Amino acid sequence: MMGDKMITNNELEQEISNLLQQYTAAIKIVETKLELIDAELKYKYQHSPIHGIQSRIKSISSIKEKLQRKGYLYNINGIKKLNDIAGIRVICNYINDIQYIAQLLVLQDDVNLIKHNNYIQYPKTSGYRILHLIITVPIYQNDGKVLLPVEIQIRTIAMDCWASLEHELCYKNKNQASDEIKQRLRLCSDMMAETDQELQKIYLELNQSWNNYNVSRETLIK
Ligand code: GTP
Ligand code: MG
Repeated sequence: MMGDKMITNNELEQEISNLLQQYTAAIKIVETKLELIDAELKYKYQHSPIHGIQSRIKSISSIKEKLQRKGYLYNINGIKKLNDIAGIRVICNYINDIQYIAQLLVLQDDVNLIKHNNYIQYPKTSGYRILHLIITVPIYQNDGKVLLPVEIQIRTIAMDCWASLEHELCYKNKNQASDEIKQRLRLCSDMMAETDQELQKIYLELNQSWNNYNVSRETLIK
């Protein structure tokens, strides 16, 4: 970027390591929010939407690799452009749970939705179907408040299974997989999406009280 101050490798690593401490705090806050959403729904409706939560902080080396790839390594403002240093995966039981979690999170006063990619509504050609949100949450440091971005990927157990395996089989080394293989992976994703729909229907048929809650909520994240 024109006019942006350049920094040395040592300064960059120092800056990244300062930020990593703050991102660790951001992840804890968002994980707690998610656990509390789950706990409330469990208490009030005997419905626990979250199957599991995983989180990760990008390593210094992959942060540097990404800065390099985006063309702003050693640029003072480079790191601020990365939204996925803190990443959280929320694995839901049922397909409709994805919307509840996203909405109940984004409706909170201190959560700001920066960007979302709804790959469930609009799947990638690979077959990738996961809801991505970039939110910011406030972190209170010694010298004041900072707003930090956290990338949240919300998926069902089936989508998590597909994406984890496809990531190894294809996404990581795109050029090696043939069109035929890609098509078969896409078919696996379609079958899993159908399975998710059917499991959701079965759950709703067996849990009428949750069904009432279900129809009363509108979709905010398109
Ligand atoms: P980056 O700058 O690389 O993060 O790109 P982006 O933010 O434009 O990408 P996107 O939000 O689409 O993807 C971010 C992450 O989602 C990737 O790092 C992958 O982990 C995951 N992802 C996206 N597409 C696929 C896919 O087709 N298969 C799998 N397995 N994972 C995917
Ligand atoms: Mg990304």
